[in-house]
Amino acid sequence: MVAWRTPDGGAHAGPGACPHLGAPLCRGAVDEGNLVCRWHGLSLGPQGFPGWSPYPVHDDGVLVWVRLNEVGGEDPLEAPVVPERPERAASIAAVESMAGRCEPEDIIANRLDPWHGSWFHPYSFVALRVLEVPEGPEPDPDRMVVEVGFKVAGRWGVPVQAEFICPEPRTVLMRIIKGEGVGSVVETHATPLGSDASGVPRTAVVEATIASSERVGFSLARRVAGAVRPFMRATARRLWRDDLAYAERRYLLRSARRAED
Ligand code: FES
Ligand SMILES: [Fe+2]
Repeated sequence: MVAWRTPDGGAHAGPGACPHLGAPLCRGAVDEGNLVCRWHGLSLGPQGFPGWSPYPVHDDGVLVWVRLNEVGGEDPLEAPVVPERPERAASIAAVESMAGRCEPEDIIANRLDPWHGSWFHPYSFVALRVLEVPEGPEPDPDRMVVEVGFKVAGRWGVPVQAEFICPEPRTVLMRIIKGEGVGSVVETHATPLGSDASGVPRTAVVEATIASSERVGFSLARRVAGAVRPFMRATARRLWRDDLAYAERRYLLRSARRAED
């Protein structure tokens, strides 16, 4: 797949192979909104070309979604399920993406295991307590609430309460409901990437952190968002390095059991 933007800011995507002789279009150049193939100069626009049809794209302002239709093996939705986010003008968004050798359910299972937080990520969390978990079909089966300190130094952490919900089967949303940064969200999306050469499934984690705060310091941070974003991404990356090991381990055990059966 190849994705590009036109000068009006619109996001577009299409198959990654040139319809002429198959050159990788991701190596092409963008000229006046068209994608120009590096092999023989074919110019491809958002309107498509015989043998090359762009995919529907949805740009939600933080993430760009591409609808692959039959590739997914599921009935496509009209638009992706985008959870409610803090207001754009009062927040900083950072997106990080990594991939692991596992299935989407392993990513989701890790994210929905709130107990591992301070054991597995002691560098980020202290004094984690799980306050609410779903107890049955009623009244709110898709919600968990935890209380945790985001580590600043030593045993010191900024205390917050956060809820976890699943707006759709491959998305977990964490929202700060009490404490510093109320309303901030972390959206975790597990996207299947297919299988590698040895048949092992690969799944991408695409995580958007959208931080907001009432603090004066925060409006200052917003002005230097470009400098803050790398730190937000690095934090997400560090956590996901460990969490992918968890998800991959879970997949390994499950597939070994499957093989035994
Ligand atoms: S392969 Fe792209 S123009 Fe020939
Ligand atoms: Fe984790």
